[in-house]
Amino acid sequence: MTVVAMWCRHEGDDIIGIGKHIPWNVPSDAKHFLDVVDGQTVVCGRLTYESFPNRTIDGCRIFVLTSDETYEVSDNAHHCIISSQRPLADLEEDIYVAGGATVYHLFMSGKEKLKPQVVVDCVYTGELLKCDGEPVSVTDCVAVLQKNYRRVSPFYILDNVESAIWIRKGEFVEQSVLKRLISILEQNAEIRW
Ligand SMILES: NC(=O)c1ccc[n+]([C@@H]2O[C@H](COP(=O)([O-])OP(=O)(O)OC[C@H]3O[C@@H](n4cnc5c(N)ncnc54)[C@H](OP(=O)(O)O)[C@@H]3O)[C@@H](O)[C@H]2O)c1
Repeated sequence: MTVVAMWCRHEGDDIIGIGKHIPWNVPSDAKHFLDVVDGQTVVCGRLTYESFPNRTIDGCRIFVLTSDETYEVSDNAHHCIISSQRPLADLEEDIYVAGGATVYHLFMSGKEKLKPQVVVDCVYTGELLKCDGEPVSVTDCVAVLQKNYRRVSPFYILDNVESAIWIRKGEFVEQSVLKRLISILEQNAEIRW
């Protein structure tokens, strides 16, 4: 099992959301996310789940973290709720950690077996849109990234987003996982080391 976390954060302040919104509109960034999780098993927090159109991502199995045992998912065949990371530890398939901040924090700082071996760190360098709500940031996760991970790819630059792949120090990562991520990020991108 490989655990992959992917986020897009704003340069400088590491904001990933304001209220329930992502404060930028970059279709190629949204497409990267959908291409990366296509056909995969995804874990996300309840608020992020509710931000997906129709509370779903086509083709994904989704684990929704919530403390609400009565929470109803939109698709009982492919989505289920979990109240901790525990049920994920025995999965054989790869897991894609899709946020939000509480869930990135849980995985980056939580159980050893479920710490992401791979992080796709995307940095948006444009202006933030004005949105209602409080800013949500991943500064703590970026500190863990910079301390415990090493960058193994160039920066793939497209539409004000600079993306790079990081691997946890000392980890062996399936080459097929990395190749797939690179093939998605490099499409139409300017490449810079
Ligand atoms: N830019 C990006 O890459 C990106 C990616 C994803 C999300 N976002 C943004 O991030 C923001 C949402 O992030 P968020 O941190 O506020 O919310 P979130 O992580 O999406 O969801 C938080 C909820 O998840 C549940 N949860 C989290 N950890 C849990 C645990 N250990 N056990 C049980 N339940 C747990 C709780 O649900 P209950 O309250 O039901 O118990 C909690 O209220 C939004 O603005 C979204 O647009 C941005």
